[in-house]
Amino acid sequence: MSLFVTFWVALGATVALLGVDLYTGLTGKRAAHVASVLLTVVGLVTAIVLAVKLGSDVTFHPGIQLVHRTLARSVVVLLLPIAASGGLILLRDSARARPFHRRAAFVLVAVAVAALITGVWMYGTAAPRRALADAPAAASR
Ligand code: HEM
Repeated sequence: MSLFVTFWVALGATVALLGVDLYTGLTGKRAAHVASVLLTVVGLVTAIVLAVKLGSDVTFHPGIQLVHRTLARSVVVLLLPIAASGGLILLRDSARARPFHRRAAFVLVAVAVAALITGVWMYGTAAPRRALADAPAAASR
């Protein structure tokens, strides 16, 4: 499988797993919820590593790249309070942590979808590095 296809499979699986996280959380299937969340984190890390590798061959529009990077980093940062509140629900059955966990989870999914959309936009408008490097030489011919 090419790097490009592996990346899209990892990304698609991560988005699908976020849906499974919401479903298992809302229906109270604890063991399945924790397992799907762990798989989501593995998928997310895999997608990020592959995205960085793919990005080394192309040049992105700086504005779109800034928006996408901010959203993608926010997804990773949002995982921290979600994991902390999830841990409080698991270990202490905290009633206060539950609504926070649910709201933060919905924000995370919304930000992840926005990161996905801007990521597709960013790759769709990217230029190959080689083509950019060759452009001045081609123009002077
Ligand atoms: C380390 C990470 C996480 C842990 C330890 C964790 C743990 C938990 C636990 C123990 C519950 C209560 C389930 C029950 O009712 O028995 C829960 C609920 C829930 N979780 Fe998570 N979770 C984590 C991450 C996530 C993520 C990434 C999402 C979605 C993107 C998510 C979405 C939800 C939702 C929507 C609920 C239902 C909240 C409610 O009942 O109002 N969780 N989680």
